[in-house]
Amino acid sequence: MSILEQIKSELPWLDDKVSFDLTRGKPSVDQLNITQKNFKLIEIPFEMDGIDLRNYGNPEGIPSARTLGAQILSTEFDETIALDNSSLTIMQQLVSCAYHLGFPKSKLSEKTKFLCPVPGYDRHFKLLENFGVEMIAMPFQDDGPDVNVISDLISKDDDISGIVCVPRHSNPTGHVYSDQNVKEIFELIANKKRNFMVLWDNAYACHDFRDTINQTPVMKLADEYELKDNLFIVGSTSKITLAGSGLAFFASSELNISKFIEYRNSLTPGPNKLNQGMHVNYFKKSSLQSQMESLKEVILPKFELVEKYLDELKIDGFCDYIQPSGGYFISYESSNSKAEQIIEHCSKLGLKLLPVGSCFPYQKDPKNSNIRIAPTFPNLENLERCMEIFSKVVKKLN
Ligand SMILES: Cc1ncc(COP(=O)(O)O)c(C=O)c1O
Repeated sequence: MSILEQIKSELPWLDDKVSFDLTRGKPSVDQLNITQKNFKLIEIPFEMDGIDLRNYGNPEGIPSARTLGAQILSTEFDETIALDNSSLTIMQQLVSCAYHLGFPKSKLSEKTKFLCPVPGYDRHFKLLENFGVEMIAMPFQDDGPDVNVISDLISKDDDISGIVCVPRHSNPTGHVYSDQNVKEIFELIANKKRNFMVLWDNAYACHDFRDTINQTPVMKLADEYELKDNLFIVGSTSKITLAGSGLAFFASSELNISKFIEYRNSLTPGPNKLNQGMHVNYFKKSSLQSQMESLKEVILPKFELVEKYLDELKIDGFCDYIQPSGGYFISYESSNSKAEQIIEHCSKLGLKLLPVGSCFPYQKDPKNSNIRIAPTFPNLENLERCMEIFSKVVKKLN
């Protein structure tokens, strides 16, 4: 009997109609319903901060939404702007602005190379690839990107002028950068500050579901190394309120912000201020902290469930993984370079996972070992079935 046939015979509910998807870090319906319930109680504001929200204008966002962004990102109001949904869009526009116009201390060209800690976020890598930026994959240490490797790489190659970071509950590894790690990175970059872009994607800034270390606001650390003009922080409420209809934020030096607004003035006459007003009122009714607590109640049991299966596989020596303290992902490391086979077998049994190599620049996983697991979207019952399939596939292949 083939492995697939064996598994089908062992899981009586597994028929050809089964279709599960653990590819993307999407909020579940239950999470979205928490937000919808509170949103329903809010009247649409047409005026706020003395601004007519119905009209064009305010390319930097309304003050109350900027205050919300500064709270989420731990940044200063003057250095934070509030825009439309999707921080990824902002990041694309930042790279585009750096490429076509240049920021005072960040100019991209066809020669530019970026450091990419791996495994990382697939859409970051696609974005950089689209601009022809050469990506250099590099490893993590326990508390952030590997500083010795950064030191070695940048000392050898003058064209390295950027790094992309997810500093809290990194996608997918869950790394949380320590202050010491960030300081050491900044010390190395300080020598290159005439042209260096630090893309700091704080997508999971307030998404702790277990005890997590405190981090000093990164702008403060950047200031100590005179790197504020090199630091480009983004974040959003996508995983706080509604993934497709939230607000995204950008924080940097005031110099960079004015350059970016000037650039964006050719893209849009202003952000959606009604949605900004709605979000401001939302967080008057339900504090950020209580919102995250409610989401944690839905999310944490899903991580615990996945970890129960992975712990068993880890004890058997089939994999390694580190229990995350927040965020949206678990990074599975196959001990025997079997990622591609595992993904293929799961797919044939109705469980979709990201293709092998997705978390690496140019989709190249050198060890054929990494699989990103995104547990949030399915309900608990379906997630359990996903993990039954996954764990049986791993066991049979080993
Ligand atoms: C690290 C990271 N950045 C950005 C995003 C997308 O965020 P947004 O919805 O704000 O574009 C995600 C979504 O999974 C992510 O994991």
